[in-house]
Amino acid sequence: MDSWIKDLRLNAPVVEPSLLACDFARLGEEIRRLEEAGARILHLDIMDGHFVPNLSFGIPVVEAVRRSTHLLLDVHLMITNPDAFIVPFRRAGADLITVHIETDPDPRPLLREIRRHGAAAGLSLNPPTSVSMIAPYLEECDQVLVMSVMPGFGGQPFNPVALDKLRWLRDHGPRNLLLAVDGGVNAQNVAACAAAGAHLLVVGTALFSQDDYRATMNELTALAQATVEPSKN
Ligand code: DX5
Ligand code: ZN
Repeated sequence: MDSWIKDLRLNAPVVEPSLLACDFARLGEEIRRLEEAGARILHLDIMDGHFVPNLSFGIPVVEAVRRSTHLLLDVHLMITNPDAFIVPFRRAGADLITVHIETDPDPRPLLREIRRHGAAAGLSLNPPTSVSMIAPYLEECDQVLVMSVMPGFGGQPFNPVALDKLRWLRDHGPRNLLLAVDGGVNAQNVAACAAAGAHLLVVGTALFSQDDYRATMNELTALAQATVEPSKN
């Protein structure tokens, strides 16, 4: 297992800013502010207008983010044909690449390709998708990204169906699996997410809508940590 994955698990719960909600006209400055606020990993949402009804950004933006920071980059592919983009996003600087089970009923070759190219492999599932769909592939994953909204847009309300999935993955998944939750995470639900087993709390709107990123990250982290026993492994 990559040591940084172990390190994130040991220091969980960790708030992971989602750049989708940042001010793209000031991308470099936003990243500097997140570094100063204590961020360790950034979440980058790639949307293709097919798998999700929205477009976001692509490889040149990931390259630009990579040039401007040493933080870990977690690239969330919401695209119909992820197989064509594993290598380009890895070359652009992704440390972790996450694909959706809904794009491919057998994601094993994709997950293996991500690992073969030296990135950590993530698998995501939408709110209507049962955790049983991904269960056969967990040994091939470094991360599971549990969606708590239908992907495509920031600022949607949190769907608590994610909590049952997190609990199941925590109790039945491989011991070293990194668990992340994405969509509508805020001060009202962050503790429940962490208590259900999420190590990474992806936060867009609830962070970027605030002026003080450090205070907001500290507040969310404190709320999440209050419910979690320190990890022993
Ligand atoms: C949704 C994206 C999320 C989004 C989260 O499609 O995958 O990462 O940026 O943003 P909020 O926190 O606003 O729901
Ligand atoms: Zn995302």
